[in-house]
Amino acid sequence: MPGIYTIPPLRFGTASDITVWDVMGNRSRQTESSRIRRRWKMPSVLITGGAGFIGSHLVDHYLGQGYDVLAVDNLVTGALENVAHVRDNACFKFLQADISENHDALVAEIEKLGRYDLVLHFASPASPVDYAEKPIQTMAVNSRGTEFCLKLAVRWNARVLYASTSETYGDPLVHPQDESYWGNVNPVGPRSCYDESKRFGEALVMSYIRVHDADARIIRIFNTYGPRMRKNDGRVVPNFVMQALQDKPLTIYGDGEQTRSFCYVSDLVEGIVRCAASEKTRGLVTNLGNPEEHTIREFAEMVCRIVDVPLNVEPMPLPKDDPTRRNPIIARAKSLLDWEPKVSLEEGLSKTIDALRIPA
Ligand SMILES: NC(=O)c1ccc[n+]([C@@H]2O[C@H](COP(=O)([O-])OP(=O)(O)OC[C@H]3O[C@@H](n4cnc5c(N)ncnc54)[C@H](O)[C@@H]3O)[C@@H](O)[C@H]2O)c1
Repeated sequence: MPGIYTIPPLRFGTASDITVWDVMGNRSRQTESSRIRRRWKMPSVLITGGAGFIGSHLVDHYLGQGYDVLAVDNLVTGALENVAHVRDNACFKFLQADISENHDALVAEIEKLGRYDLVLHFASPASPVDYAEKPIQTMAVNSRGTEFCLKLAVRWNARVLYASTSETYGDPLVHPQDESYWGNVNPVGPRSCYDESKRFGEALVMSYIRVHDADARIIRIFNTYGPRMRKNDGRVVPNFVMQALQDKPLTIYGDGEQTRSFCYVSDLVEGIVRCAASEKTRGLVTNLGNPEEHTIREFAEMVCRIVDVPLNVEPMPLPKDDPTRRNPIIARAKSLLDWEPKVSLEEGLSKTIDALRIPA
């Protein structure tokens, strides 16, 4: 079928050959228990958006646990380099495909590779620059793409987790935000293609639970950062880091007093994995993010301190509908999943800066 191809594993090794990289970049061998499990039934996971920033870290995690992993991605904002290091892992498969289109052909193609126990739906442009450039694809992947994932899960009797976003809270009138807050979203503003399609995706998940008893859950991810973010993806972390590394003024929108909370990717992955493994999260929304709040100006100062350059600021007007405060309440994740972020902003930022220093 046009537009779909697989990257064949270059080497079919035995389980004991498999070497994996964890999300902190450390090389690790499979554990004895994961080898034993492989002899019986290999758990398996399909990750949409598996060549993206978060998706590729999930690929690493599940390969490390001995899962069979299929990443499906059309590379609209992701990159094969993000999964190049696992290319010859016999447990890893990659399918380049748009999950918003040609569903009959796509199911057939996927089922040639297997039926999966867990579906993690992470495909979607995620940065304001990306979804402003591709508003219709963004709406498609969070509506038709989400329904595709839900249908697969129902067909395979599999579990599904939908990656939603703190953007569903819009420019919140309640602060900080817990999962019961319905949000304050402009349905026709420049961010609405993302915010409203994620809200639609959430409603679709809940409808599949009500109608088909789907084993589904939703996470709302707050700003996450770490290695493999694109240098030019337009999000505040790579923006500031690249500007500091090039000794350019940092672009601060508004007065810089707006706040964000930043979660390091290894913490997020741990939360996702726990949420996906838990029976208790079925039918629920769970916030995943770091509740430590920083003003954008404080964050700019920290970036410049770590890079060791003076802070120079280029002030810009605040974009339309840019939220002024965003901070998660993570009481649900703490009580149901025994999860909270562990990596400090200073530590996570240092690792991210090191990764972004590497020339493309
Ligand atoms: N990074 C964050 O801070 C953050 C915050 C909230 C929510 N999220 C959500 O997490 C998910 C992953 O975000 P990310 O930061 O890794 O973004 P990303 O852009 O790096 O990854 C998204 C991946 O999805 C792929 N994709 C997009 N449309 C597709 C389609 N139609 N078919 C197949 N693949 C498609 C892209 O090529 C890319 O590899 C997204 O759903 C995003 O909305 C991320």
